[in-house]
Amino acid sequence: MNFNLSEEHLMIQQAARDFAKSELLPGVIERDRDQKFPHEQVKKMGEMGLLGMMVDPKYGGAGMDSLSYVVAMEEIAKVDASAAVVMSVNNSLVCAGIEKFASEEQKMKYLVPLASGEVIGAFALSEPEAGSDATSQKTTAIDKGDHYLLNGVKNWITNGGTAQYYVVIAQTDPEKKHKGINAFIVERGWEGFEIGPKEDKLGIRGSDTHSLLFTDVKVPKENRIGEDGFGFKFAMAVLNGGRIGIASQALGIAAGAYELALGYAKQRKAFGTEIINHQAIAFKLADMATQITAARMLCFKAAFEKDEGKDISESGAMAKLYASQVAMDTTIEAVQVHGGYGYVREYHVERMMRDAKITQIYEGTSEIQRIVISRSISK
Ligand code: CAA
Repeated sequence: MNFNLSEEHLMIQQAARDFAKSELLPGVIERDRDQKFPHEQVKKMGEMGLLGMMVDPKYGGAGMDSLSYVVAMEEIAKVDASAAVVMSVNNSLVCAGIEKFASEEQKMKYLVPLASGEVIGAFALSEPEAGSDATSQKTTAIDKGDHYLLNGVKNWITNGGTAQYYVVIAQTDPEKKHKGINAFIVERGWEGFEIGPKEDKLGIRGSDTHSLLFTDVKVPKENRIGEDGFGFKFAMAVLNGGRIGIASQALGIAAGAYELALGYAKQRKAFGTEIINHQAIAFKLADMATQITAARMLCFKAAFEKDEGKDISESGAMAKLYASQVAMDTTIEAVQVHGGYGYVREYHVERMMRDAKITQIYEGTSEIQRIVISRSISK
């Protein structure tokens, strides 16, 4: 077993780190304050290949492995967790699902622009009354011969206001429960498809989260992904991979807050010495460094297993469960290390603390991750 990153992975890490510093750091405080989506930055991320990292180059992607994705996600999230979730959703929930399960025609039409970053995508599973309990879909897609008629509401959809293409999960046959669920590619601008108001969120305020409203939207038959009834399995498979993305985002938030806390503790003086020389502070930093390293190892393990084609439901859930807890704990302590400075925007850590919370909620709450892990270990 080799714990060192390869030359190639180190290059990707450096490129993402440089980009985050030069393009994301300027304005990150203002984008959070004003809830401003990083349009220009996301465009550049697309040009760098960060929005379709694991997609085959023949479909417009960068053709990299999952470890490259984890490494790049960490660097982006260290600086701007909002840009990181845009990247995670486009890569893991949209591109990966289409590449693995969609038809060749769907890939040529939708994956190429999505993976090259020409447009971005969104994944619409959650509903006002179906979050954790994802099989209870109320959105319906009724078979009308050559098309489906889509009706319903989706909630808390990341990239909801900016996406061009939406992967929408809907119930086509309620009697069959989860086996009567399908996934569809829906285009922005189709008649009857309305984007609801932007959510005013605690964190990741630079990302845009919207509800989506569908009223008699005609979805062509050829836009269904996979066989009839495959939608729930599709959503679960996609989320297994998505959880590696969010785990890496959480890892990045934690690592970013830790680096700031360490830097601050080395220069801030109190009681005649730099505060890192006080055990109360040094021990906090020691715990952060240990937990972040453990979270990184879980992310790397899940990424390796994904590339080996293994079932990653357990390793992805473990990585997300643990890394999101580390993100929360680390950011709270990073604010504490900064004292009064930590409580104001200028020092970044208060934003990171707010950003960290969502990693315990979206793409499966920590409670759902425990369900997934406990079912897996008791098989
Ligand atoms: N991987 C693959 N297949 C899975 C799976 C997994 N992780 N979990 C369940 N399945 C399969 C089961 O094997 C079963 O298949 P069969 O019919 O062939 O047996 C089927 O799916 C139904 O599974 P269950 O009977 O276990 O269903 P359940 O209702 O008891 O629970 C759940 C399933 C794991 C709790 C699931 O509902 C779940 O993951 N919920 C959380 C949903 C979620 O993560 N939402 C996030 C929204 S997306 C988001 O946040 C995006 C964003 O914008 C950032």
